[in-house]
Amino acid sequence: KSCDGIVEFKDVTFRYEGAEKPVLEGISFTAKPGETTAVIGSTGAGKSTLLQMIPRFYDVESGSILIDGVNIQNMKQSTLRNKIGYVPQKAMLFSGTIAENMRYGKEEATDEEIHDALETAQASEFVQKREQGIQSILEQAGANLSGGQKQRLSIARALVRKPQIYLFDDSFSALDYKTDSKLRYALKTETSNATIIIVAQRVNTVKDAEKIIVLNEGKIAGVGTHEELLNNNTIYQEIVSS
Ligand code: GTP
Repeated sequence: KSCDGIVEFKDVTFRYEGAEKPVLEGISFTAKPGETTAVIGSTGAGKSTLLQMIPRFYDVESGSILIDGVNIQNMKQSTLRNKIGYVPQKAMLFSGTIAENMRYGKEEATDEEIHDALETAQASEFVQKREQGIQSILEQAGANLSGGQKQRLSIARALVRKPQIYLFDDSFSALDYKTDSKLRYALKTETSNATIIIVAQRVNTVKDAEKIIVLNEGKIAGVGTHEELLNNNTIYQEIVSS
């Protein structure tokens, strides 16, 4: 039995209830373990929707999504959930200590595991600056944190669980370019064999990915590396120069 974390979209079409047009149409691609697959496209292209179909927040209208060859609709929800670390666009932090927030999804995580995850997520420094470290309390969903700090804690929380598949929905958007790059490099190193899928609007976040998918109005407008797309994809060129 293979349990590698290969994510495969086969001709996936999806439409929100009551919508005239599908938000995703004929989407096919494979995201492989040990690689980063990035999805870039303008706002409204369908990136978040695409990502949310993997944990089954939405089910396909036609086509299929497979993980290691198994249709996710035939998988137990608990099995699926264990495989996936989904980091939503808006960080979901609750009132409580940083440690409690980090243990959400893995109660039994040790302090060391939490520290390792924070380190990878480039969150150690600002957490350690607080007198109470991981025992410091977050108020009102992290009101006392910057947007970038919230994103990093949200990423660290996913790392604590050590899933096979990471799904990042614009999780790097509030970070400066240097931190964005550093974090993704650390992520790659620390999660070596995981499948990473990143949705983003800016080129800096996707340029190092092994595979970049250009999504335009719900359809794939191109697939390639940064260099390849720079050479042959007008939509990608537009995103780069905007
Ligand atoms: P950004 O997050 O702005 O970068 O956009 P995106 O590329 O992630 O697009 P997203 O998947 O969020 O949305 C794609 C399209 O689906 C847009 O036209 C949205 O208005 C529409 N949409 C998103 N969520 C819903 C929903 O819950 N119901 C309906 N009917 N439409 C939705």
